[in-house]
Amino acid sequence: MRVLGIESSCDETGVALYDGEQGLLGHAIYSQIETHARYGGVVPELASRDHVRKLLPLVDEVLAQASLAKADIEGVAYTRGPGLVGALMVGASVARSLAWGLDVPAVGVHHMEAHLLAPMLEDPAPEFPFLALLVSGGHTLLVQVAGLGRYRVLGESLDDAVGEAFDKTAKLIGLPYPGGPALEALAREGDPGRFRFPRPMTDRPGLAFSFSGLKTFALNTFHEHGAAARADIARAFQDAVVETLAIKCRRALEQTGMKRLVIAGGVGANQALRERLAAMSEELGAELYYPRPALCTDNGAMVAYAGHCRLVGGASEPLRFDVTARWPLEDLRPPQPLP
Ligand code: KG4
Ligand code: ZN
Repeated sequence: MRVLGIESSCDETGVALYDGEQGLLGHAIYSQIETHARYGGVVPELASRDHVRKLLPLVDEVLAQASLAKADIEGVAYTRGPGLVGALMVGASVARSLAWGLDVPAVGVHHMEAHLLAPMLEDPAPEFPFLALLVSGGHTLLVQVAGLGRYRVLGESLDDAVGEAFDKTAKLIGLPYPGGPALEALAREGDPGRFRFPRPMTDRPGLAFSFSGLKTFALNTFHEHGAAARADIARAFQDAVVETLAIKCRRALEQTGMKRLVIAGGVGANQALRERLAAMSEELGAELYYPRPALCTDNGAMVAYAGHCRLVGGASEPLRFDVTARWPLEDLRPPQPLP
């Protein structure tokens, strides 16, 4: 089955075409960074309007990459949530209208499920079951994945998500939006021995996270030592985040006895995190999987893939659609054909 995927939950417009036999046939992303950079963060209404402008041209671009026409699309998948509701509505209406016009099924996909399945687009792909560390701008989740739609959340952040902590800390030390990649680049120049930030919630049992205190730590250090210490602060912050995530992943692998770890979501693009988790997995004899950086951050390919899994599993939806700003991952079930 050939599925068109549409991602529009936040500030990236992503479109892709995935074929069950041939794999990814084309994908294109438009990043709205320039639109939001002057405001220092995502402005929801501007995001929606940009999706309106970019979605259909991206669909044409992806079809051209694959040398296919709209009539070759056999199913359409779109991000149904969680995300910015206006932005989600744009993707959902385009997807459902296309599907209606082409007389093919459409399915709304959970954004975090799409992230956690993204490594399946790579070779080798992880097999079920696995442990997933989902780290994005809105979520920090450790998930025990038994199969498609069979998720148990083992731990999540009590406050800021990891990506959010990166973005806020970057802003506090004067880096431009989006802060994650900028902070990582600056941290590379930092002295790892100068400051040591705490590893929050690692001194007690459990798999919950808390990252908002690190941001305050960074701000206080910045006030005390000034802009000249920026790179060292970035390094101390990143080291603390990476080490905290590694400690919790190790704990979760040991507790569950799982031998496969998957990293996904925007922060999964962070090189220091990948290297640290690779070393930790090797020590435990576990395999580490992650998608290429372009499939870690928001993209249409992961939505096309997740939608394909659900559509071939028999999922189908009536013509009316809804989107949802909040959506617990554990509410998902495997795809069910209609009776
Ligand atoms: O998955 P994603 O593209 O969107 C959401 O679903 O939220 O994740 C975006 C988040 C942002 O907070 C961004 O700063 C962070 O991922 N990010 C990074 C890096 N690349 C993106 N954080 C740290 N290091 C990176 N290289
Ligand atoms: Zn995302």
